[in-house]
Amino acid sequence: MDICITNIGQLVTVASLGASTKKREAMRDLSILQNASIVIRDGIIREIGTFDSIHPVDDIHTVDAGGRVALPGFVDSHTHTVFAGSRESEFAMRSEGRTYQEIAASGGGIASTMRATRAATKKELLHSAERRLQEMMKHGTTTVEIKSGYGLSVDAETKMLDVLRDLHEQSLTTVVPTFLGAHSFPPEFSNDHDGYIRLLIETMLPYIGERKSAVFCDVFCEQGYFDLLQTEAILAAARRRGLMLKVHADQLSSSGATELAVRLDAISADHLENISDAGIDALSRSNTIATVLPGASFFLNHPYAPAKKMIDAGVAVAIATDFNPGSTMSFSMPMMLTIACTQMKMTPEEAIAAATLNGAAALGLSDKIGSLEIGKAGDVVLYDVRDYRTIPYHYGYNHVWKVVKNGTMLEF
Ligand code: NIG
Ligand code: FE
Repeated sequence: MDICITNIGQLVTVASLGASTKKREAMRDLSILQNASIVIRDGIIREIGTFDSIHPVDDIHTVDAGGRVALPGFVDSHTHTVFAGSRESEFAMRSEGRTYQEIAASGGGIASTMRATRAATKKELLHSAERRLQEMMKHGTTTVEIKSGYGLSVDAETKMLDVLRDLHEQSLTTVVPTFLGAHSFPPEFSNDHDGYIRLLIETMLPYIGERKSAVFCDVFCEQGYFDLLQTEAILAAARRRGLMLKVHADQLSSSGATELAVRLDAISADHLENISDAGIDALSRSNTIATVLPGASFFLNHPYAPAKKMIDAGVAVAIATDFNPGSTMSFSMPMMLTIACTQMKMTPEEAIAAATLNGAAALGLSDKIGSLEIGKAGDVVLYDVRDYRTIPYHYGYNHVWKVVKNGTMLEF
């Protein structure tokens, strides 16, 4: 359907004029138009301008935004949205002083969600993930990357990837699938790590490459999970099968995973709570995006990734939720903006650029989404505020008024 949204008080375009990312001071320039209108036809933005410069044709569906604020839909470029079960008991244990690592070592953590996810049917996983995506959309997120990684066997990883395919086909949200078979060693291989790596490289990745069931391959490169050599072997095999690369890097300890991500030309290195200066330097001389996950630090009471230092060094920084039942039980991108501003000292402008255009770049999609510019997808979110900075400022409250996805105004 064609639509013209008029009387937008602040149209926050995040325009980059062809650049795939925003870096340094460009992150603070959101190219805001006052009293603006936007015309979307066939799902694509066709016209943008001030209220008086746009003359919508008579039969177009026109929406008066009443002076409200419009932003590009958020691009949540790192999530684990498909899972079964929940881990409030671990949350309670952490509140009494146990750490994420201690809980994982005693059989909780990823293994706990793996057991629940293996036991769930495809239909159950699909249904719960669909509901989550709908809630995410209500909070302004129109594109979501989702990782497998709670199956950790051929059958259960295939089940998760099938769910991702169904979500991609059925959901209004744009869903981007990532294979994270290397999330943890499953119990069957606890004494045979090489055997699991062989299963990943010789069985799972060829199957995924052939069926094109994932766009990216990710590895949790961390002490007690996958080391640098194992990570490199898995990612090299993934590249040979046509997948692009991502790394969970330097989350719990500093290992050089970020430098490895850069050396392998990964599209993003994610987490970075314990990144070294050498890691920042490597990122600054690369095209690899630094995806920071403020919610994980907040929820686990871990250090925050040095986002400001990375921006100053010229690194393209993206923000995502990391939504998962263990380290971040929140899919609210506005909440991530608030944490980024208060704890990581990003400005509201930097946080918004990181959650839109740079998030799109972390999915290789910044020519299509992430900013409101002619030729890009009509993914526009209207907020019932007068100043875009109210979105991170007035936190814990959903300010979304209307969501337009590919030019269609959604009814919730
Ligand atoms: O990104 N670090 C690895 N994976 C997730 C946590 C997964 C879990 O605890 O279930 C993360 O934080
Ligand atoms: Fe993650």
